[in-house]
Amino acid sequence: MSTNEELIGRADVNDLEAILSVANTDVDEAIHVVKNNADAIFTWDYEKGRRPALNRLYEKAKTAQWNGATDLPWDTEVDQEAVVVANATANMGGMAGGIDPSVIADSPFAKWTEKEWIQVGVESQNWTLSQFMHGEQGALICTAKIVETVPWIDAKYYAATQVMDEARHVEVFAKYLDDKLSGHYPINAHLRLLLDDIVNDSRWDMTYLGMQIMVEGLALAAFGFMHQLTTEPLLKQLLRYVMSDEARHVAFGVISLKEYYAELTDAELKERQEFAFEAAVRMRDRFLQQEVWDRMGLNVKEVLPLVMHSPQRQLFQTMLFSKIVPNCKKLGLLDANGGWLRQKFTELGVIGFEDNPDTGEEYAMFQLAEGELAS
Ligand SMILES: [Fe+2]
Ligand SMILES: [Fe+2]
Repeated sequence: MSTNEELIGRADVNDLEAILSVANTDVDEAIHVVKNNADAIFTWDYEKGRRPALNRLYEKAKTAQWNGATDLPWDTEVDQEAVVVANATANMGGMAGGIDPSVIADSPFAKWTEKEWIQVGVESQNWTLSQFMHGEQGALICTAKIVETVPWIDAKYYAATQVMDEARHVEVFAKYLDDKLSGHYPINAHLRLLLDDIVNDSRWDMTYLGMQIMVEGLALAAFGFMHQLTTEPLLKQLLRYVMSDEARHVAFGVISLKEYYAELTDAELKERQEFAFEAAVRMRDRFLQQEVWDRMGLNVKEVLPLVMHSPQRQLFQTMLFSKIVPNCKKLGLLDANGGWLRQKFTELGVIGFEDNPDTGEEYAMFQLAEGELAS
């Protein structure tokens, strides 16, 4: 059995010092090269629909395309500071995001006025949307890789539609950042390590597990949370459109891996369980937004424990796993090998989601209704 140390580089998953020691030191790099070790697989079996669920998904994807340049109301005026205030007032119990006032009195936040709280809200938006954009580029690259590596024609067809979806997602997040917000952040180091691991792995199913199940499962939950909470109408609609695609992407992962994992040995499943755990921890670490606190001139180690204990933050951290846990359960990953991953998700405090609906069929619910598309 691998230890936490071997898997994530630290014995205690909550070891803040170790988490913060992973930082992006190449913030000025313009390109980032990752070795892609996989074989490109041709198949000579062209029978379309041999896997009916994938075929249905492919047919659905062909008619669900939208245009990021023309289907969204880009002429919407966005006053970023006003949005920060409106969001905080509507959802966060005020500008301090629910941090206990008695804790603030004794902390570096004590001197903060409304100005600093608004500034951190602005930085946090810039950071969040930047990481979404970088994650979408990860999805673009991973899905192009799946087109090459998956041995089934129905999956190659479907993955090809997802490549187009992801290009559109990168495009709309980049445009939103450029036109409506006030600055980009480089990729978070925890996210980059995870994307590197996924691209680097030679086994085709690991791309699916890392991207479609873990990264996109988390994205679907995070987009849903933000879609529900934001008071900014353009972002709300943008997220609505992206989620209609993401739900299909996660379904693609669940449907494909359900078939493949049924044939794996316990030892092979163990490697997948460990990979899922490692990905879960990396994704949790990135949401600490360490770069934002740093940019605000604060001692990150000092303020993070305060921020982490706010009830809103804790709700957000666990909610991120609301899709991942039931999907891992459906794939048999929670209970294989004596429930190894169940135990790990229990330690992370997210096992409570195991009986939520899985995303294998849920995509129909996210579909854009007739008339919801502008063109
Ligand atoms: Fe996407
Ligand atoms: Fe996606």
